[in-house]
Amino acid sequence: MSTTVTRVLKNGSKVPWIGFGTGTALYNRDAEKDVLRAIDAGFIHLDGAQAYGNEDSLGKAIANAKVPRESLWVTTKLGALNGQTVEESLKGSLQRLGLDYVDLWLIHTPTGLEDKLKDVWKQFIEVRNKGLAKNIGVSNFRIKDLEKILEGGDTEIPQLNQIELHPYVLKATQPLLDFQNKHGIKTESYGGLIPVSTKTDGPLAPVLKEITSEVAKRHGSPVTEAQVLLKWLEARDIIIVTTSSKESRLKEYLDALNVPQLTPEEVSAIDAAGSKLHFRKFGQHMDS
Ligand SMILES: NC(=O)c1ccc[n+]([C@@H]2O[C@H](COP(=O)([O-])OP(=O)(O)OC[C@H]3O[C@@H](n4cnc5c(N)ncnc54)[C@H](OP(=O)(O)O)[C@@H]3O)[C@@H](O)[C@H]2O)c1
Repeated sequence: MSTTVTRVLKNGSKVPWIGFGTGTALYNRDAEKDVLRAIDAGFIHLDGAQAYGNEDSLGKAIANAKVPRESLWVTTKLGALNGQTVEESLKGSLQRLGLDYVDLWLIHTPTGLEDKLKDVWKQFIEVRNKGLAKNIGVSNFRIKDLEKILEGGDTEIPQLNQIELHPYVLKATQPLLDFQNKHGIKTESYGGLIPVSTKTDGPLAPVLKEITSEVAKRHGSPVTEAQVLLKWLEARDIIIVTTSSKESRLKEYLDALNVPQLTPEEVSAIDAAGSKLHFRKFGQHMDS
C-alpha cells in the first residue's frame, strides 16, 4: 500500500513518505475530524506542534483512529520554553497527545533560542535517550543554526530539518540542501504546494501545466499539478508534509506515488522555472 513507502533517516528509522499537517489551516483549531479523515484516507504520518495549539485534538484523533498507535508516525515540535526544561515541555506535549512517546521531536525554529541552541540540543538527545522521543531533529534551521549545534563535533546530527521547500525557494535553499546531504541530515518539506495554492501566477505556471500534461500521457490517466510538485520532491528523496481539508485531495496526494517519475529533464525544467522567482511564505529569517 502506498502509505507504507518510507524515507530512511541516517539512524535507520523509516519515516512514512508523506505526512498530514495540523498547522496552517488547522492552526489553533480542533483538528480531530480532519486528522481522522486523513487517517481514513490512508495517512499514517501526522505532523503536529505545540505552537499549533491543537495537540489535544490531534491526540483525540490518534486515540479514536482505526489504526493502532504503533502504526502511526507522530511528530511534534518544541515551541517557546517559557522557563521549562526540554523534558518538562515534551512531557506536556505527551500529556496533551495522550502518548508515551512521539516518533519525532523537533526544535520548531531557532528564532528566540539562538544563544541556547547547543544546550537545547543536548537536552533533546537526553529525552530521546529516555525514550520520550524515538527521533530528534530541527525545523527552519539555516546552515549557521545547524553549525551552532554541530560545532565541536561532540554531538549527534539532527536526523532531519523540516523546511519550506518548493521550486520558488529551491535556489535560495540549495546551499542548505548541500550542507544537509553532506552531513546526512534528511530534508522534510512543508509548503510544497505553494505554487498551486498561493503563488499561482509565477514563471513556473506554464511549465508545470505542460509537464503535467506530459506525465498524464505517460500515466494513461489524469494527473494534477499538485501531484507533479509532489513528484518533484520525491525525485529529491525528500519527506513531504502537506495538508488538505478535502478527502478527494488527500487521496490525490497519496495517489501521487502511483504517478510515473519525472524525467531528469522535467525536474531540471521545474528547477529552472522556479529559479526565476524567489517567493517564500513562511520563516522569513531563512533568507537572513
Ligand atoms: N515547521 C514549520 O514551521 C511549518 C510551517 C508551515 C507548515 N508546516 C507543516 O506543514 C503542513 C502543511 O503546510 P502547508 O499548508 O503550507 O502545505 P502545502 O502542502 O503547501 O499546502 C496545502 C494546502 O494546499 C491547498 N491545495 C492543494 N492543492 C491545491 C490546488 N490544486 N489548488 C488550490 N489549493 C490547493 C490545500 O487546500 P485544501 O484544504 O482546499 O485542499 C491545503 O490547504 C502544516 O499543516 C504543518 O503541519 C510546518
